[in-house]
Amino acid sequence: MARRVTLTQYLLEQQRSHDKVSPGLRLLLEVVARACKMIGYHVNKGPLSGIGDVVGNINVQGEAQKKLDVVANEVLVEANEWGGQLAAMVSEEMDGPYIVPDRYPRGEYLLLMDPLDGSSNLDVNGPVGTIFSVLRHQDEGRVPDENAFLQPGSKQVAAGFALYGPATVLVLTVGNGTVGFTLDKELGSFVLTQPNIRIPEDTSEFAINASNARNWEPPVKRYIDECLAGKTGPRGRDFNMRWVASMVADVYRILCRGGVFMYPRDAKHKEGRLRLMYEANPMSFIIEQAGGTATDGERRILDLQPTALHQRVGVVMGSKNEVERIAAYHREAS
Ligand code: F6P
Repeated sequence: MARRVTLTQYLLEQQRSHDKVSPGLRLLLEVVARACKMIGYHVNKGPLSGIGDVVGNINVQGEAQKKLDVVANEVLVEANEWGGQLAAMVSEEMDGPYIVPDRYPRGEYLLLMDPLDGSSNLDVNGPVGTIFSVLRHQDEGRVPDENAFLQPGSKQVAAGFALYGPATVLVLTVGNGTVGFTLDKELGSFVLTQPNIRIPEDTSEFAINASNARNWEPPVKRYIDECLAGKTGPRGRDFNMRWVASMVADVYRILCRGGVFMYPRDAKHKEGRLRLMYEANPMSFIIEQAGGTATDGERRILDLQPTALHQRVGVVMGSKNEVERIAAYHREAS
């Protein structure tokens, strides 16, 4: 039987041979992965879990919070607060930082998370996921505040996501390529199944919510119109379109077979729709480490200096040559 590499083995290897993971970061990532297993368990139960109805709370983004969002957030906070590796956490579901309580040691890392991304898919049994990102606390002596988290995405030491689909997968980067694990539910371990994810540089597939077309900026409209024109248009080939409305699922598809994922800023979403710290930064790190490119249309997302925890940003990411083409259209337009 072929030897299986588990998440633990992979992380130990990154620690020993590549010096990419400290013992503390390894433990932290294992705890996050364990929390994802728990969230996946609740998600897989569907209506049988007894959770999933709208609570009536409105989260900081102004959206109705589902019960499972709350549960996923609690699972992550409870799993991560006691280990000693973290100083604080922020989440799409919390107003401000959650400081590790005094009764536990505070460590050198900061955790950022989107506990249940794409949660509108829950009602229709569609894929959802958990996105996370790890930064180093730059001023270890001090209790971190919001400013401690406002570091550009290029400072991330790890990022990943779990996708709760037909199989539960965990995609991870520690800055040494992007890898994918599949959860063996019987054994309870994540097994390395994609040891070196590479995104093809060219693609004939794009993902965008076309119901926003009337609000798009001219360069985005130009790009999509050219794709839609297919063989007889300037691109000289047909394009395919996919939109799962769950960033984890759309990005995973791009990691598997290439493509462009776009949620650009537009006349309605003037700053963009997706969150820089919880969605765009971790996904950009993952995409770049797999050979892809991630921009806000023009600038590299990982270079953006955040100004607020819940800041939104335009997102264009995926196959390098297509993302660069869209950036070129923006440059030409300006
Ligand atoms: O930010 C949450 C999210 O569900 C993403 O996962 C997804 O890409 C996007 O919003 C879907 O947006 P829309 O509802 O406009 O299709």
